[in-house]
Amino acid sequence: MHRRLGVAVVGSGAIARAHIFALARHIEAFPDAPGAGRLVVVAGRDAARTEAAARRLGAPRWTVDWRSIVDDPEVEVLINAGPNDLHADPSIAALAAGRAVLCEKPLARTAAEAERMAGAAEQSAAVSMVGFNYRFVPAVLLARRLVRDGALGRVYHFRGRYSDDSLLDPAAPHNWRHDQRRAGSGVIGDLASHVVDLAHFLVGPITAVTAAVRTYTPARPAPGGVEPVTVEDAVAATLEFQCGALGTLEAGGMCPGRKNFLAFEVNGRDGTLAFNLERMNELQVYHGDGRARGLADVLVTEPDHPFGGRWWPPGHILGWEHTFVHQWDEFVRRVTGTADEPAGATFTDGLAASRVCDALVVAAETGRRVAVARAGNDAARRDPGAAG
Ligand SMILES: NC(=O)c1ccc[n+]([C@@H]2O[C@H](COP(=O)([O-])OP(=O)(O)OC[C@H]3O[C@@H](n4cnc5c(N)ncnc54)[C@H](O)[C@@H]3O)[C@@H](O)[C@H]2O)c1
Repeated sequence: MHRRLGVAVVGSGAIARAHIFALARHIEAFPDAPGAGRLVVVAGRDAARTEAAARRLGAPRWTVDWRSIVDDPEVEVLINAGPNDLHADPSIAALAAGRAVLCEKPLARTAAEAERMAGAAEQSAAVSMVGFNYRFVPAVLLARRLVRDGALGRVYHFRGRYSDDSLLDPAAPHNWRHDQRRAGSGVIGDLASHVVDLAHFLVGPITAVTAAVRTYTPARPAPGGVEPVTVEDAVAATLEFQCGALGTLEAGGMCPGRKNFLAFEVNGRDGTLAFNLERMNELQVYHGDGRARGLADVLVTEPDHPFGGRWWPPGHILGWEHTFVHQWDEFVRRVTGTADEPAGATFTDGLAASRVCDALVVAAETGRRVAVARAGNDAARRDPGAAG
């Protein structure tokens, strides 16, 4: 018998839909799960749109006041899929009320804000997780397993990039992603944060960065005229890792033909791994055993691969949405205290990624190499949501 967890979702955009898809499909792939989600309420901003979204998404109730869901007796879990400026307050309030929280990435707009959220998570007995869903791609988990098992030997390089074409059209309207006050940063928080999290997941902590940014579209159409774009459209950076590895990172929305090109390569003394989300079922592996030369494509769908056998027979490939189901399954197991080898990002991991994102912003502003803040109140950028 599955424990039924009442779930509230903040937001009803694309990513809210991916989470709700995960609730609906979870038990089909994970019949052994100790619990399952039951969508109770969706919180939005605009009444008519939220009501329509609730109907479309199968939510029995809807509200335009997220505060009303924090103490809702039917709600045990908050999935926070709101814009970045709506991550801190509902997540902190829900954790204080003992609700488990799965919050979208980036955890917060700045590291100082993320620090408040990680503090709230530490104070609460409830489970919290950040939606760095690409950790749950089977090929990414296989890459982590290989690095951890020492298949690459000492790691020398990490090369990560996230390219898409989402910012190419200068006539596309202004939205919260273009506003530094609401988003915190541009592609640094939106795209590069995923790369940073995967770099941490695979290679370990990043300790220092240099960076340059560009804003190619300085203003966008808005009701009554135009609004300035106050965030970056592109970033290029160097990364230094605690383990001694050296890395590069590039992210941008001005890349024609690239749709969701999240890619990384890890080079170690004994081998190389390469991954690209547009071919998400494959991991390229080179293991220098002296015979086969060159990278081999491994189709990560075998029964002994991560999540192998959960969905379809070998070779029957998975999609982007499955990462949300895998993530939700681990979240449920954490809530019920039955997660074996948790892979998902905690709020502490989310804070670590936010500290690197802050360091990238500051490095780009100052033109200097910036050490990544480690602990305490030494975050470089102020907390936009702090009182006072
Ligand atoms: N994990 C991923 O792969 C991934 C992908 C895309 C977006 N995201 C993250 O998900 C979050 C949402 O992104 P999106 O693309 O769905 O954005 P979106 O703009 O499409 O949706 C945001 C939703 O929040 C709602 N909202 C805004 N203000 C609100 C308020 N005051 N109260 C309640 N609801 C409110 C909006 O009505 C909308 O439904 C962002 O933090 C983003 O970084 C994650």
